[in-house]
Formats: sequence, structure tokens, C-alpha cells
Amino acid sequence: MKIAMIHGSPKLGNSNSDYLLQKLEPLVCSGNEIFHYQLNKKPLADSQYRELCQMDTLVLAFPLYIDAIPSHLFRMLVALEEYLKLEPKKELYVYAIINNGFYEGVQNHLAQEILQNWCLRAGIQFGQAICHGAGEMLGEVKQVPLGHGPLKNLGDAINSLAQNIQTRTQADSVFVSPNFPRPAWKFMATHTFWNATAKKNGLKTGDILRRL
Ligand SMILES: Cc1cc2nc3c(=O)[nH]c(=O)nc-3n(C[C@H](O)[C@H](O)[C@H](O)COP(=O)(O)O)c2cc1C
Repeated sequence: MKIAMIHGSPKLGNSNSDYLLQKLEPLVCSGNEIFHYQLNKKPLADSQYRELCQMDTLVLAFPLYIDAIPSHLFRMLVALEEYLKLEPKKELYVYAIINNGFYEGVQNHLAQEILQNWCLRAGIQFGQAICHGAGEMLGEVKQVPLGHGPLKNLGDAINSLAQNIQTRTQADSVFVSPNFPRPAWKFMATHTFWNATAKKNGLKTGDILRRL
């Protein structure tokens, strides 16, 4: 089976979407051919769109942006829909790993519905999405093996996604939050991530809270 791993974060450096794809890949590579696509540097070329039409499975990993799909990825889906009309492939399955900044993975429900509707419109099969909250925590727990500690729920979700991909099964989407107390996560995210990121970008803590 030909599987396309599509990295849908616009970040140029390390991204949580990339981390999630890297965790999934070893679980689905056996007996399959894996192809990688990036959207963060330049739009896909005509030849890449044609390749995607010949895949058996597309796996999209992307962040939640304003309760929806990042615009560069959305543009790619709109373009791919036109290619799929010319080279229809009904047995193409789409799976997704969506991650978001807030704690609750359920925040991603609209983005997964957008993807589900896009599949219907493009005439292809929606397989399943797994949706994980507290995305920016992932970089901080890189040493923790998947399926353990704060990554227990995520590990279970990725394992079931891998199985569904291997067997081309359609399943209900899964929404998970980390196995970590919400108040502790909020404290750490504010102090070690958001405030530190603001400082790195020449902003003060108060600038984050300022309303335009
Ligand atoms: C422009 C923008 C919009 C975002 N919108 C949301 C949102 O609506 N809800 C949310 O929970 N997180 C939101 N986030 C946070 C990202 O989803 C989160 O940081 C994610 O982990 C980034 O994943 P990545 O590293 O794969 O790009 C937003 C981030 C940016 C930059």
C-alpha cells in the first residue's frame, strides 16, 4: 500500500505535527511504501498532486488554526480536489492527526468535520482522525515514551490509528487530552512556553494579554 505522510504545519522548524507523524510512521511502515510531503516551504508541484492521486492512503498531520485548518493546507486540499476529479480514486482513504494549543483535544472537532466534509465532496473515504490537545507540551516530553505518563492517551490513540490505517478501516474520530492535570499544564504552558516565546520575540508578558 502507498501511504503519503503530509506534514501540514506551516512552521519551518520543529513542529508538533512532525513529532506526531514520526511516532506513527514506524507503526505503519511494514509492508507499505511511505512518501513524505511538506507544505511549509512551498506549495506542492503539479507532479506531487498527481502522485497523491495514486496513493492508497493520505495521512495529514496539522495544527488547529482558529478552530479550523491552516489556510495553506486548506488551499492544498482545494487544489487536490480538482486533480481527484480528473483522476478519481474511490479507494483513497484519508486519516488525520490534528493537534491544538488548548488542553482539550475536543477543540479540534470542527477541523475534523471540515476534513470529513472535504472527503465527501472529493469523493474519497474519510478513515479517522485523532485529535490531541496541549500540542506545545509535546516538545517538552520528547524523552517520555509514547503510551506512558502524560502520553498514555496519545499512545493508545496512535496505536488504534495505525491499526485502522493498516486494515483500511473507518472508525470514529478520537479526541484526547494529555494524562496531566489541567491546572499544572496551564501553569507550565504559561510560564515555560508562552511567556518564554514572547520574550524570544521581543515582547513582554503584558503584550500577550493586550487587546487590539
Ligand atoms: C494562527 C494560530 C491559530 C491558532 N488557533 C488555535 C485554536 O483555535 N485553538 C487551539 O487550541 N490552538 C490554536 N493554535 C495553537 C496551535 O494549534 C498549537 O500551538 C499547535 O500545537 C501547533 O502545532 P504545530 O507545531 O504542528 O504547528 C493556534 C496557533 C496559531 C499560530
